[in-house]
Amino acid sequence: MTGTMTATLTAAIAAPEFIRQVAHSFGKACDSYLPAARLQQQVALDALTLLPADKQGHLLDLGCGPGWIHPRFAAYCNQFTAADLSAGMLAKAASQQLASHIATPLTTTYVQADARQLPLPAQSVDKLFSSLMLQWCPKPAAVFAEAERILAPGGRIVMTTLVDGTLAELKQAFASLDQQQHINHFLPAADVVAAAGSVSNIRWQFEQRCYPLFYTDVVSLARELKALGANQVAGRQSRGLTGKGYWQQLAAAYDLNRTTLGLPASYQVLIITGYKNAS
Ligand SMILES: C[S@@+](CC[C@H](N)C(=O)[O-])C[C@H]1O[C@@H](n2cnc3c(N)ncnc32)[C@H](O)[C@@H]1O
Repeated sequence: MTGTMTATLTAAIAAPEFIRQVAHSFGKACDSYLPAARLQQQVALDALTLLPADKQGHLLDLGCGPGWIHPRFAAYCNQFTAADLSAGMLAKAASQQLASHIATPLTTTYVQADARQLPLPAQSVDKLFSSLMLQWCPKPAAVFAEAERILAPGGRIVMTTLVDGTLAELKQAFASLDQQQHINHFLPAADVVAAAGSVSNIRWQFEQRCYPLFYTDVVSLARELKALGANQVAGRQSRGLTGKGYWQQLAAAYDLNRTTLGLPASYQVLIITGYKNAS
């Protein structure tokens, strides 16, 4: 594949503290992410089947991470933009040298940006793909509004996000030890649906699927979350996880869920598809 690769890294992102922490965590995880990303790969590949597969138009991957899925996008567009909050993730995605893997000419651009405020012109994107980014955005309505702005009439959206019920077993184990917030708050699916509903020009469809994963022990789960960069918790008061005794108590509480497959962790994924009205 031949093609032009341009890298546009806009460093100045006015972000509140949590957004900065999220960017920092994912940046630190850019090398460890992929081997730990079994859920992310399953979910994104399932979501990709919902995107019209023709080599037409401008595709945006919003919250692209290290871009492991990007070679597949050659079958879905003739112009491609990858956007992420984290410069580290974006650099990882850009280092794949997409242009050398794909046969059709493909214009490729990498943009460091917050999903709420994208440096893209109105109505410039035909297909918006975004997998497992939205749960990191405190105000999903702002992301949906921005999606509507950049999407061309007749454009398509395929997004996935984690919703309430995700890591319920871990949350319950923590709750048996103390009242602190140790894992991220995932919005109820109904709140995400309502946020999408605040955008009038897009026809939405929603489907919730549970992806159960299994771990040998709670430490493996915690290590995986860290390797993914998914260990930021909005509003966490203290780390509270340092003592060996604490971990032993947590492990014992979580172990009550053990099955023959190991320790289950449920991931509740909301799959969101949208079509922007043609006029
Ligand atoms: C769990 S990773 C998913 C990466 C990739 N989409 C995948 O499926 O493997 C979430 C990504 O979203 C990015 N992200 C989080 N909040 C964002 C925001 N407000 N704007 C843009 N990107 C964001 C993170 O930096 C991270 O790379």
